[in-house]
Amino acid sequence: MNFLPKDKSIAQRCAVLGLDFNQDYIGEDVKSTIVAVKQFNENLGSTTLDLGNSGTGIRLLSGYIAGSGKDCTLTGDKSLSQRPMNRIAEPLNSWGAEVSLKEQKFPPIVIKGTKLLPEFTYNLTIPSAQIKSCLLLAALSSKTKITIVENIPSRDHTERMLEECGADIKRDGNKIILDGSIEIKKKFIDVPKDFSSAAYLIAANILSKKNILLEGVGVNSTRTAFLDVVQEMGGNVVLKNIKNITNEPRADIESNAKQELKGISIQGKKIPNLIDEIPLIAIMGLFAKGQTIVRDAKELRFKESDRISLLLSNIKKFDPKSTITEYEDGFDINPSNSLDTNPVNIETGGDHRIIMSFMIASLGSGKKVIFDETSSVETSFPGFFEVLKEWYQ
Ligand code: S3P
Repeated sequence: MNFLPKDKSIAQRCAVLGLDFNQDYIGEDVKSTIVAVKQFNENLGSTTLDLGNSGTGIRLLSGYIAGSGKDCTLTGDKSLSQRPMNRIAEPLNSWGAEVSLKEQKFPPIVIKGTKLLPEFTYNLTIPSAQIKSCLLLAALSSKTKITIVENIPSRDHTERMLEECGADIKRDGNKIILDGSIEIKKKFIDVPKDFSSAAYLIAANILSKKNILLEGVGVNSTRTAFLDVVQEMGGNVVLKNIKNITNEPRADIESNAKQELKGISIQGKKIPNLIDEIPLIAIMGLFAKGQTIVRDAKELRFKESDRISLLLSNIKKFDPKSTITEYEDGFDINPSNSLDTNPVNIETGGDHRIIMSFMIASLGSGKKVIFDETSSVETSFPGFFEVLKEWYQ
């Protein structure tokens, strides 16, 4: 069955690095990045690139371009224009780049061509794969050397891809060291299916007591902490046919309901490895006995929407008898375990993961959800609604 899109993180890294991959079944974010890279490469003078909704695209490409010594401006849609870019501009500028932002924080990102210092060390205080990758790509395009001190590990797709293509990259304890002067070999990358998209169908299997096999899904351990959560909550998950292709593991994922779900507590180093799945975990918590607790997840406030506040206000509408406490870096949810089937309006904030999470909530409860828009699901999971209809409804 071929209903899952290609991994959005890996595909966008291929696009920025100019590596060939099969472009069937990719979301709008990947398409925006492919178009922006093409435009950048074809344009000899200064140009403006529109990255649409893609945070990964704009941050990774900014790093690559800042290292290339060329002038460029990068913009995005309304949501992307409200996301913090100082997290990449600050290290790039300390390294010798000239990157300026609107109100020193937001896109457009204006890059003036400069030469980066031959060596740079950066201590990553925000556990973000986008910042890490931005800097690795800047080192590669500027042919300079970077040492990144990674205090809390995040997804390592860029490191793996660079290693696969013969870059001089190594890990020494919590340091990642890349000498960008060694050119990479442009290889074909076999991009696995997107784990973060598969997560919705794993939850759908469990909540609707189905058993649909998800084939060829990326199971890089820096992405799959959601599987531990599902099992701890009482779901059943089995990985089969595990293979490593072009330096990324993938597997067929079998998942189903085993017993009644129970609430869970998540915090600390696990958070970056399931950051995109937290809205979905909160939804699964509504179908569980007991409290679901999340902490150390302040980064959720800087995603396509403020995912803590939007998630909780919608949960309150979806399960009015639940008790919810909001924290700066997370929440406690005590579900009522007595959902009615009255229709509910969901405020989406144009955030694909809010929409998909509440579709799963609807599937599990029979409660109708009405969204103010649904097109943003196309950014990551084209065909999501059709898949749910065909397999689960
Ligand atoms: C991504 C990293 C994460 C994640 C995003 C994709 C990537 O963001 O939430 O969906 O491809 O590197 P941060 O780097 O901001 O944590």
